[in-house]
Amino acid sequence: MASTEVASDSNLAVVIMAAGKGTRLKSRRPKVLHEIGGKPLLAHVIAAAGQLVPPSSIYAIVGHQAEAVRAAVASTGINFVEQTVQRGTGHAVQSASQAIAGYQNILVLSGDAPLIQSHTLSALFAFHQAQHAALTLTSAEPAQPTGYGRVLHPAPGSVEVVGIVAQNMLAPGQLSLREVNMGLYAFRTAPLLAHLDSLNAANPLGELYLTDMAHVLNAAGERVVSFIAPDPDELLGANTIAEMMALDAALRLATARRLMAAGVTILRPETCVIDAEVEVAPDTVIEPFVQLLGSTRLGSASRIRSYSVIENCTLGNDVLIRQSCVLSDSSVADGARIGPFAHLRPGCEIGPDVHIGNFVETKKAKLRRGVKAGHLAYLGDAEIGENTNIGAGVITCNYDGLHKNKTHIGRDAFIGSDSTLVAPVTVGDGAYVGAGSCLTKEVPAGSLSVARAHQIHNAGWAEARRSRRQTPPNP
Ligand code: UD1
Ligand code: CA
Repeated sequence: MASTEVASDSNLAVVIMAAGKGTRLKSRRPKVLHEIGGKPLLAHVIAAAGQLVPPSSIYAIVGHQAEAVRAAVASTGINFVEQTVQRGTGHAVQSASQAIAGYQNILVLSGDAPLIQSHTLSALFAFHQAQHAALTLTSAEPAQPTGYGRVLHPAPGSVEVVGIVAQNMLAPGQLSLREVNMGLYAFRTAPLLAHLDSLNAANPLGELYLTDMAHVLNAAGERVVSFIAPDPDELLGANTIAEMMALDAALRLATARRLMAAGVTILRPETCVIDAEVEVAPDTVIEPFVQLLGSTRLGSASRIRSYSVIENCTLGNDVLIRQSCVLSDSSVADGARIGPFAHLRPGCEIGPDVHIGNFVETKKAKLRRGVKAGHLAYLGDAEIGENTNIGAGVITCNYDGLHKNKTHIGRDAFIGSDSTLVAPVTVGDGAYVGAGSCLTKEVPAGSLSVARAHQIHNAGWAEARRSRRQTPPNP
């Protein structure tokens, strides 16, 4: 991602606090790894920071389940600082003292505020520099300020700040304060490090609050100011599952709006779950209760009917996915029709104009142009040539208990209903396989193969049986 110019490398680092346990979530997963919009909270914050500074200037403070958190975002190339015990946000920044010492300024972000946008970070930093402040905090006046720290000014309307009071420390006269601390800060590093050790734990939780730096710096004669958040919704945190799902809905609705603005029809967008990176070409219709996940790309003039879940798939143009299909890590070419109730497991390449009907499962299957598998089939580790017809109930027996084996079926072939193909096995071009066959040997091109028990006729058997039944039992 391109970094927008901030200044020289040593001018600015971004510190993301991500060590907390997230007690209010009541979850075993660390808070910053909970996902919204299909991505962990922390990954959203890193993406915003990454547009401002290079990854080498981003430091995530990790602690609770540090290894899991590192592993989840290691590919971004950022740095990690360990906060082994979580003694509060002030203590978190203390843990990063060494890492930040070489930078003139730092931005401190929370790993649990995932809607933050990079232009807000640059606006905050520009304001901080213009104000020559030691600390610039970001504030807003939300309709519901309960739970947030409140910002104290020396006089109404002043940009200067004398302190931040935590919700549980509010004096009765302060309960009406509406301006809240949104948890996003710019610090000049030298005064921060000079006074960071003055924090104390004299509060109900016995923690070191980073917010107390407002008072500490102000009392030391340093300039502390507030920056009004341009869009306060961006700074919304995710302390509970309910809050997180509200953010998830907001993010996904924004994705749906982006797609609709680009010519996609989404019926009842609020019922669809669409990940941020999904792309859809114009004139495609997405019905209610569809999920489009991961790196999924859909072509134009297609229709995805309700209850289908499509993850990491590429679909062409004029594709019809009928109701309740599950498609993963596969591609579907132009004009294909799939479902209802079809399951494309990873590694499938579905060719143009292929028809896959109800209750068909495919896995690592390559179906060339015009193949039809209309009903009740399992096609795994299989390659099927153009225009071949797969009858109802056909099964490729790809697993022998030890290995996966391949089935090759040529073009223009006809596999009769309820046939089992015991792989490895090959059916040549244009061959016919009689219904109910169990194939264990190659079927040569152009031949008819029937591999089933012979049908017998026992004349008069039914009549004889009926008359036996009518004979009264012996007394
Ligand atoms: C914090 C602010 C509050 C502000 C609110 C905005 C403090 C004391 N309070 O409260 O004024 O209104 O954000 O959302 O800062 N973390 C660590 N190590 C710790 C503790 C926390 O890394 O020891 C991390 C958490 O993982 C989280 C972030 O710091 O990502 C914020 O912590 P959290 O407990 O959510 O603070 P809030 O109660 O939201
Ligand atoms: Ca929080």
